[in-house]
Amino acid sequence: MALKRKDLLGLRGVSREEIEEILTTARQMKEFLTKNQKKTPHLQGKSIVTLFYENSTRTRMSFELASKYMSAAAANISASASSVQKGETLIDTGCTLDQMGTDVIIIRHPMGGAPHLLAKNVRASVINAGDGMNEHPTQALLDMFTMQERYGSLEGLKVAIVGDVAHSRVARSNIWGLTTMGATPVLAAPETFIPMDMAELGVQINHDVDSAVKDADVVMGLRMQLERQQAGLFPSVREYSEFFGLDDRRLALAKPGAIIMHPGPMNRGVEMTSALADCDQSRIREQVTNGVAVRMALLFMLTRRNLG
Ligand code: CP
Repeated sequence: MALKRKDLLGLRGVSREEIEEILTTARQMKEFLTKNQKKTPHLQGKSIVTLFYENSTRTRMSFELASKYMSAAAANISASASSVQKGETLIDTGCTLDQMGTDVIIIRHPMGGAPHLLAKNVRASVINAGDGMNEHPTQALLDMFTMQERYGSLEGLKVAIVGDVAHSRVARSNIWGLTTMGATPVLAAPETFIPMDMAELGVQINHDVDSAVKDADVVMGLRMQLERQQAGLFPSVREYSEFFGLDDRRLALAKPGAIIMHPGPMNRGVEMTSALADCDQSRIREQVTNGVAVRMALLFMLTRRNLG
C-alpha cells in the first residue's frame, strides 16, 4: 500500500495498477469515515502543509481534515498572507517548508507546471491540488472512486463530460485517468470550449449535448468559469445554459440509473438545474465525502513510500 513515486503531479502516466491501488486504499479509508472513526494513527509523526495560491473550499479542507483525521501535524499557508507577498519565490518557499521537516506539500497554483517545479526542488512529496488549466489529479481520483462505488468497475463506462472543457484541469485529469482505466470519456462543449489538442488524446468530442449524454453511464457537468465570460467564448450565460445546461430531459437520454456528477463549485441553473443536482441519481454530495477518503489514501501511501 505504498506508492513508488515521490509526488503525485498528474494522472498522465500513472498506471492502471497504481490507480487501482489508490482506489482500494480509499475504500478502506472511507470505512473509517462511515464508522465515524476520525482519529487514526496512519500519519502519526508526519507533517503536512497545504500551500494554496488560489481559492478552494473542497480540496484544501479535505486535505486538512484528512491529515488531522490521521493524526498528522497539519498547517496551511495562504499565499496572500505569506512571504510570497514580499517577493519570496516558489522554490524558496518550498525549501523553507523542507527545512521545517514537512513530509508532504499540497499545492494549488494558477500556473500550469508550478507543482512540477516545486517537486524537483524539495525533499517533501508534492501533491498537485490543481495547476492552471493543466491537471487536478485528486479530483479525478475521487470522481473515479465515486463511479467505481456505483458500478464496481470503470471498464467500458461511457462518461459524458459536459461544459467548459477548455479551461478545465478536472476534465484533463479525468481524461487521463478514465482512459487508463478502460472507460470512454465523451466531451460535449461549444466549439470555443474544446482545446485543439483534445482530439489527439483519443477522446470523442461532440458539440451536441444530447448525443454525448445518450446512453451514458455517468453525466458530469463542469463548472462554467464565469470569470472568463468576458473573453467572448459564448454569447451569454442564459444561452449557454439553454444549449449546454443539464436537466431532467437530458438525463432521460442517459442509461437508466446513470449518475450525475459535478466537481464543484457549482453554478446552479447554469451547468445544471438545481433539481438535477439534488435528484436521487446525483452523487455530487457523495463526491465531497469521497474526496476526504481519496486524500487520506494518498497521504498515507505517499508517506509510506520509503517503507516499501
Ligand atoms: N473541485 C474543487 O477543486 O473544488 P475547490 O475549488 O473548492 O477545491
